[in-house]
Amino acid sequence: MRVKDAILYTREKLSQILKKDQAEWETLLIISHLLKIKPLDVYLFYEKEVDESKLNAIINKRLKKAPLAYILKEAYFWGRKFFVEEGVLIPRQETELIIEVAKARIKKKNLKILELGIGSGVIGITLLLELNTKILFGIDISEKAIEISKKNARFYKVESRCYFVKGDWFKPLAEKKVFDLVVTNPPYIPLEEWKYLEEEVRCFEPKEALVGGEDGLYFHKITIKNAWKFLKKDGFLIFEMGYNQAKSVKELLKVNNWQFEVFKDLLGYERVVIAWQKSM
Ligand SMILES: C[S@@+](CC[C@H](N)C(=O)[O-])C[C@H]1O[C@@H](n2cnc3c(N)ncnc32)[C@H](O)[C@@H]1O
Repeated sequence: MRVKDAILYTREKLSQILKKDQAEWETLLIISHLLKIKPLDVYLFYEKEVDESKLNAIINKRLKKAPLAYILKEAYFWGRKFFVEEGVLIPRQETELIIEVAKARIKKKNLKILELGIGSGVIGITLLLELNTKILFGIDISEKAIEISKKNARFYKVESRCYFVKGDWFKPLAEKKVFDLVVTNPPYIPLEEWKYLEEEVRCFEPKEALVGGEDGLYFHKITIKNAWKFLKKDGFLIFEMGYNQAKSVKELLKVNNWQFEVFKDLLGYERVVIAWQKSM
């Protein structure tokens, strides 16, 4: 099937389960994956042939609600392609705001970055590639996350500057003020809300990557209380939070002596915080 026909065919099939914009974007992701080109380059190869049986195999899995990133084993973050697999969270677009904030605010060189809950490594590796970074230290409780982060670091040829360790949040670390940046997109869904998540998320993505205790703030509380013990005195903490968690998070930051600024995502929700200790 030629690309121009494959676009129409795939878009129509995906429209059974997706809204128009999403069906269009996923169509480009599927066809670009099959042709081994970038998504927007699909339009440059209208006359190329797409393998019809491979295309149908992907569409059929997608129609059963398997997330496309798990079917293709790849996802885009900050314009780069990353490996993902079942067992690690699929990177979300709103998380790119962390990169935007870090790039705008952090001007130091030879950064030592600590990421908590590294997942597929998208945040840490992107920061390493975008900022002047000496080392990235990533922690995750999931063996799979460590494996995929290492794979992504190798893909971007930065593995010599990356240290990925399996462990529980700050526990693998000695309390030393060595990092310039502590960054995290922690699990933040309240336990009670998990069962109401979309089927596509609930049935396929790892629960421990999503749920942040009873109130969703379990990891924010640990991080806000302890991050200063690992940060140099001019260091920063940057993290993501749920769309309705800003009020509670701001209280936690004040109680723990942080100064901070909050940034809204594209939908207008307060989503990302940059914080630094008042004594700076
Ligand atoms: C919301 S995901 C973020 C993944 C990735 N950083 C991203 O933004 O796509 C949270 C991550 O925290 C990890 N995690 C959950 N509990 C943890 C714990 N106690 N210690 C370390 N990591 C944990 C999960 O395995 C998951 O990879």
